Amino acid sequence: MSGRRAAPPAPADVTAMLRAVIDPELGDNIVDLGMAGEVRVDGEGRVTIPVKLTIRGCPLRAQIKKDVESRVATHPGVTGVTIEWGEMTADERTATMTRARWNARQQAGDTRVPLGARVLAIASGKGGVGKSSVTVNLAAAIAAEGLVVGVLDADIWGFSIPRMLGMSDRLEARRIGDAEKPSIVPNERRVGGGLLKVVSTGMLVEDEGTALMWRGLMLTKAVEQFLNDVHWGDLDYLLIDMPPGTGDVQMGLARMLPRTDLVIVTTPAVSAQKVAIRAADMARRSFLRVAGVIENMSSFTCDHGAHYALFGEGGGAALAAEVGTELLGRIPIERAVAHGSDEGQPVALGGTGAAAVEFRRIARAIIDATPTTADMGGCSARADDAVPLTLRR
Ligand SMILES: Nc1ncnc2c1ncn2[C@@H]1O[C@H](COP(=O)(O)OP(=O)(O)OP(=O)(O)O)[C@@H](O)[C@H]1O
Ligand SMILES: [Mg+2]
Repeated sequence: MSGRRAAPPAPADVTAMLRAVIDPELGDNIVDLGMAGEVRVDGEGRVTIPVKLTIRGCPLRAQIKKDVESRVATHPGVTGVTIEWGEMTADERTATMTRARWNARQQAGDTRVPLGARVLAIASGKGGVGKSSVTVNLAAAIAAEGLVVGVLDADIWGFSIPRMLGMSDRLEARRIGDAEKPSIVPNERRVGGGLLKVVSTGMLVEDEGTALMWRGLMLTKAVEQFLNDVHWGDLDYLLIDMPPGTGDVQMGLARMLPRTDLVIVTTPAVSAQKVAIRAADMARRSFLRVAGVIENMSSFTCDHGAHYALFGEGGGAALAAEVGTELLGRIPIERAVAHGSDEGQPVALGGTGAAAVEFRRIARAIIDATPTTADMGGCSARADDAVPLTLRR
């Protein structure tokens, strides 16, 4: 980007970014849990963050370090991040655990996205590059591994998820437990040993005319409602299919679900460099972390086995380098991808072509990169001893 460096963030901005760092076991962000101390920023953009662990040698330390560094680095004015590690006193630990327990109770029967779910928003700099195709195929491939995957179609006006997953039933609103307000219950589809839970405006509207009425609704308001009024229940992942060409929804997500990671989809055309820069800028402005880039509509292989770079070459790698992230994979152009979407059968489910194989490989890589509760073993009892029996329920 340009040679002039952006101004360093204010300490409060850094603290706001740290609210995106979730301690997955305690189910809250490290600021509200009292783990992050007073942030310091010098004139060169070097950021120092005191972080107190509940116990020394907590296995989550590496994860928290990575999260803190990568979140804070999304600010263009940051040149370095130093963490000063500390350990909580017994009193501090009790306060943190009390808070975590209180949260756990509040969460019960809640309609919001569960804190343990990894949130991935599939976005792009421009329309028509295959966001929705990538969303349904990754969702299906992750679910096929035995996991529960929510799919939120945030393309409020241009929804395509119901067709691509062959799920068009009306959504039901139901009263959950003794809640006063009814919640929207996602439509479900079993995939192997896993489950898809899907919500889209395409499952709300009766016809094109009703769809038009939604235009009056503020886009971000609609997405906010989906996040707050849907009873997602258990989720391992939430994949969000972003609408084309708007930063509004992304900004809204950054505010409502700051732990969202972006997966940016691009075509291989290097001439799309401007678009690449826009996507990178959008990520920076909303302080969302970019989990990686997927190049879609990469080369086409004809029936005779010859490869054609129809949309150019190198766009995915160029974008990944621009954003400072990794290229998660390259999906070739295949009739089976479009056909699967038209039939409501994502090609990643059982398809044998190169696109299907690549979708499954990327899904596996995403799963492998997500920490599991097993990885956190040893942390569970970390503060238990410090909590009075009366608080353990
Ligand atoms: N790898 C691929 N091979 C062949 N066709 C593809 C591939 N990826 C996407 N398509 C087709 O390209 C079209 C656009 O894809 P898709 O709807 O997923 O893009 P999008 O980025 O979600 O678009 P929008 O910005 O309008 O939401 C669809 O018809 C889809 O079936
Ligand atoms: Mg789309």
